[in-house]
Amino acid sequence: MNSPLRVALIGAGIMGRQHYQHLSQLPQARLCAVADPGLQAEAFAAQCGAANYADHRKMLEHARPDAVIVANPNNLHVACALDCVEAGIPVLVEKPVGVHLDEVRSLVEASRKRNVPVLVGHHRRHNPLITKAREVIEQGKLGRLVNVTALWQLQKPDSYFETPWRREPGAGFLLTNLIHDLDLLRFLCGEVVQVQAFTRNDVRGFANEDSAAVLLQFANGALGSLTGSDAVAAPWSWELDSGESPVYPRQEGQPCYLLAGTEGAMSIPQLKRWHYAEAGSGWHTPLLQSRESIPAGQALTLQLQHFIRVAQGREAPLIDAADGGRTLALVDAIREAAETGRACAPALIA
Ligand SMILES: NC(=O)c1ccc[n+]([C@@H]2O[C@H](COP(=O)([O-])OP(=O)(O)OC[C@H]3O[C@@H](n4cnc5c(N)ncnc54)[C@H](O)[C@@H]3O)[C@@H](O)[C@H]2O)c1
Repeated sequence: MNSPLRVALIGAGIMGRQHYQHLSQLPQARLCAVADPGLQAEAFAAQCGAANYADHRKMLEHARPDAVIVANPNNLHVACALDCVEAGIPVLVEKPVGVHLDEVRSLVEASRKRNVPVLVGHHRRHNPLITKAREVIEQGKLGRLVNVTALWQLQKPDSYFETPWRREPGAGFLLTNLIHDLDLLRFLCGEVVQVQAFTRNDVRGFANEDSAAVLLQFANGALGSLTGSDAVAAPWSWELDSGESPVYPRQEGQPCYLLAGTEGAMSIPQLKRWHYAEAGSGWHTPLLQSRESIPAGQALTLQLQHFIRVAQGREAPLIDAADGGRTLALVDAIREAAETGRACAPALIA
């Protein structure tokens, strides 16, 4: 048997430690080093039996890991990922892949030039129910996709906003949370070519948006809407509905995405499907309902297993830097549309 892949972690905060929890269950990899200047990192590294470094460049030079997970603050993602790529080390970068599209373009270029893979941590794409939903769409069971409805309506506790940066410009839920939903909509329904949007911030009264309404036009002609707020006592969001993370008490049975096509419709995460026995028979005929079976599997574990195969050169990243950049470009277009009142197209990331 091959020796376990030596994986290093840059940024050992909440998400970095979650990655470690999942990694420690996998026999084919082990944590060899941690790079984090924070005071808590040394004890964490010792607990994991990994070497500890305050500076990630020193870690790359001395520990020479086979693969790296970057889970530090967003504005450091691209610089750290570039250092890994320059050192020839495959990297899993947490979402968002970066903060500015220009820096993301530099990462795309470096990854291609050096032929070093970058996987972006939009882990929901690895959730088996999303894999299944995509399969249903690709099999044509919904026919031509016409309407897409996405909901992200929940309440973050007031204590969440006691951390100052969460109240400051740039840290709103569009970039922090809706980026996941937008990534899934791209993954399931295809590229978005144009958006219109309204945002407001007067429920909580902070600089960041606390509610948003977005209209989406997909390249395949489907039209979508996404409404969101982090200030409403409501049950409709991936977090509360999917059961993916035990930290959110589940609202079983509530959908967060509704996809409707000419031959059928589907709710996510339930994967309930509606269709007519005879296509086109319409509203006087009973609409039949069925449910796709959902295979078991934990998205973060599946993402890590995929990353290990990517680092071993056995698979291409499911979401590379350019793909992650396209999701970021969509968030930017929504922000621009909300600020200007104009319809906006996401910037192209080749
Ligand atoms: N995929 C998901 O669902 C998900 C969920 C939460 C967070 N995230 C992402 O994970 C990243 C980290 O978020 P978090 O909630 O863990 O934040 P956090 O604040 O808990 O952790 C960040 C860590 O990075 C460390 N750090 C700061 N500067 C550093 C540097 N120069 N080099 C190395 N480490 C440094 C900090 O000391 C801290 O330990 C963010 O990009 C966030 O968007 C993703």
